[in-house]
Amino acid sequence: MRIIIVSNRLPIAVTETEGKLDLKPSVGGLVSGLNAYLDSLELSSFAGADHLWIGWPGGTIRERNKKELEARALAEFKAQPVFISEKTMDKFYHGFSNKTIWSLFHYFPAYTSYDEDFWTEYVHVNELFCQAVLQAYRPGDVIWIHDYHLMLLPALLRRDLPDASIGFFLHIPFPSFEIFRLLPARWRAEILEGLLGADLIGFHTHDYTQYFLRCVLRILGHEQNVGQVMAGGRIIRADTFPMGIDFTRYQHAADDLEIQEERDRLRSILGDSRVILSVDRLDFTKGILNRLQGYETFLRDNPHWHGRVVLIMVVVPSRTGVERYQIMKRQIDELVGKINGKYSSLNWTPVIYQYKSLSFKPLTALYGVADVALVTPLRDGMNLVAKEYVAARPDRTGVLILSELAGVAKELGEAVIINPNHIEEITEALRTALEMPVPEQIRRNTIMQTRLKRYNVVRWADDFLIRLRELKDEQRVFNARFLSRHLRDRIVSDFRDSRRSLLLLDYDGTLSKFAEDPLLVPPSADVIDMLRRLREGGTDVVIISGRDRQTLQVWFGMLDLGLVAEHGVWIRPVGNEWNLVIRVTADWKPLVIPLMEMYCDQLPGSFIEEKEYGVSWHYRKADPEPAAQRAKELIDDLVNLTANAQIQVLQGAKVVEVKSAGVSKGTAAAWFLARGEYDFILAAGDDWTDEDLFSAVPASAYTLKVGATQSHARFHLRGVPDVIALLRDLADQSPAQVAPSQVLGKLA
Ligand code: UDP
Ligand code: G6P
Repeated sequence: MRIIIVSNRLPIAVTETEGKLDLKPSVGGLVSGLNAYLDSLELSSFAGADHLWIGWPGGTIRERNKKELEARALAEFKAQPVFISEKTMDKFYHGFSNKTIWSLFHYFPAYTSYDEDFWTEYVHVNELFCQAVLQAYRPGDVIWIHDYHLMLLPALLRRDLPDASIGFFLHIPFPSFEIFRLLPARWRAEILEGLLGADLIGFHTHDYTQYFLRCVLRILGHEQNVGQVMAGGRIIRADTFPMGIDFTRYQHAADDLEIQEERDRLRSILGDSRVILSVDRLDFTKGILNRLQGYETFLRDNPHWHGRVVLIMVVVPSRTGVERYQIMKRQIDELVGKINGKYSSLNWTPVIYQYKSLSFKPLTALYGVADVALVTPLRDGMNLVAKEYVAARPDRTGVLILSELAGVAKELGEAVIINPNHIEEITEALRTALEMPVPEQIRRNTIMQTRLKRYNVVRWADDFLIRLRELKDEQRVFNARFLSRHLRDRIVSDFRDSRRSLLLLDYDGTLSKFAEDPLLVPPSADVIDMLRRLREGGTDVVIISGRDRQTLQVWFGMLDLGLVAEHGVWIRPVGNEWNLVIRVTADWKPLVIPLMEMYCDQLPGSFIEEKEYGVSWHYRKADPEPAAQRAKELIDDLVNLTANAQIQVLQGAKVVEVKSAGVSKGTAAAWFLARGEYDFILAAGDDWTDEDLFSAVPASAYTLKVGATQSHARFHLRGVPDVIALLRDLADQSPAQVAPSQVLGKLA
């Protein structure tokens, strides 16, 4: 097995110095987490697996250096660069990725750009990545796509690789519906459809998963069932996998001689000062300014700490091409200058500020000397620094101050939790942290370390990849129920060889696509022609529908078919009049209609369809989320209200139906079955009212469920076009012309 990791950023950032290639490690939680996993691959459930990492090399590479870079990246890092021009990268990376998605998904709508050119380049670069992955892909590979730069890629790949294992993981928050809907309609739908090209979509926290599923429902209309969504005839899952760290590496770092020396060096410089540590990429989401303000207020209010505490602030340069980041850099510089200017003395500098990236050893040494880690993002998908700090304290001392708006707060609840928008909370938390007794520090860190050790980075990736593998197995079992070419041929040949055949066909969702307005979907000329040919070939055809008899009469009256209206209340045998099957009454309607009207008033877009012996409340045009809730409530009310009436309450596809008890599509089917000796029977339907139909026909009949939901039918078809294609095959194969059966015309 080979894992193909695809992310915008490769683990190496390449620059060209005097025409020569310079390969440096890249920064950020994504690279840091995935590198940690790949380093431990042999300890994982996928030991022995190979991998390839496809991504952007971090800069524009001159033509003459590309070949060399490809060779070195592959040999030294198992990486494959995707070359992208500077102009394109500007609109894709600085533009759509960072000025649109990054800002919006981190709840900074005021910083968000909505530029059509950015979007165009975003689509274009996702296509470039698609080509790169397709070139590298070999059957059996698992493709694991990462982060917000490549949200269209899963669906693009799915076009060419319908059966491939494709996972997607989002490393940043997925925002709530109200924020996500700020994106223009086309973009937001394409992003969701893009993600649904994957089999498994992972998020850091349960909230992000739920927000995503909610957007999928409200924007694309796909319902979820415990994180499972059916789209395009495929089972797709969204689930939560909080990313971990290589716990042991941080825990054992204290044993490393070089790290010990660095710690000693730092200690000798810092003397007895208590150390507060702050480490981030320079990003407006990280709350660096709020943190500085909190510290400034702390110094103002606690003069007895002057000279006894120091804030070491590591700020890693990031996205320097985006103006917002340049502005922030200036603001940080100014505020650090202000604090140091105001409070420092000859032998004390309150803020030690470094604008650079540190490698593992110096960073871990800093974790080791810090009494307090101040991690206060305004919004963060996860935040690995918080986890690393806790893990890098083998004696379990130290206090983590943590923003409740970082994903990691869901796992590290024993930290001192603050709201970073409230400067006073940061100030207060600093006091609490610096005064916290050591046994209390140990108590909190012990709990957090146990959790971090258990759910480490290997567990995170293993869980994701194992879930993906299981899902592929579920899909295979599920797909086996879809009608294969081979089975379809068998149905056609059985039909051809049959003496007398019967087709029992539902209408909406089976012969015609579901439409917002039920009156807008009369049968196509194609369907009418096919039914006519089947009939002329001697096949008995019955349309079994929940619709009223007038509509069916208008649409199919001219054909020589059997018709069933209102789920079996009315039957029109071939060439005969409509008949009531059993004695039914409609005296319950005055009870039901006012109740449904009340629900219509409460749910815009819902409407009532009144039939002679039935009433339906449709909500296909309504907002899907409140509609699903209202439908449940209505069913409950109806069941209570009509407890003594001879009626049934049914939940169909975006409809609640009330009809007389004692009849169903099953009783209607039985009526026709009792009137002919058939050696070929086929029943097709999409709704759960069609389940009665499937149960009523003999076990030897071909029962076909349209769609991917649970059913008693023997086989599934993916959609209306598949039904039509099958019926056309049957019409083409109609048995030698025989006189159309007359049995359907005889009444009981
Ligand atoms: N990091 C680093 N050197 C630095 C600062 C940070 O290697 O000077 C690493 C840090 O160890 C962590 C990652 O960068 O693994 C930052 O990940 P995090 O999730 O905290 O934030 P992100 O940058 O992804 O927003
Ligand atoms: C965050 C994102 C990553 C990104 C990293 C560094 O962690 O989730 O996708 O790689 O920041 O940002 P950069 O823009 O330098 O890749």
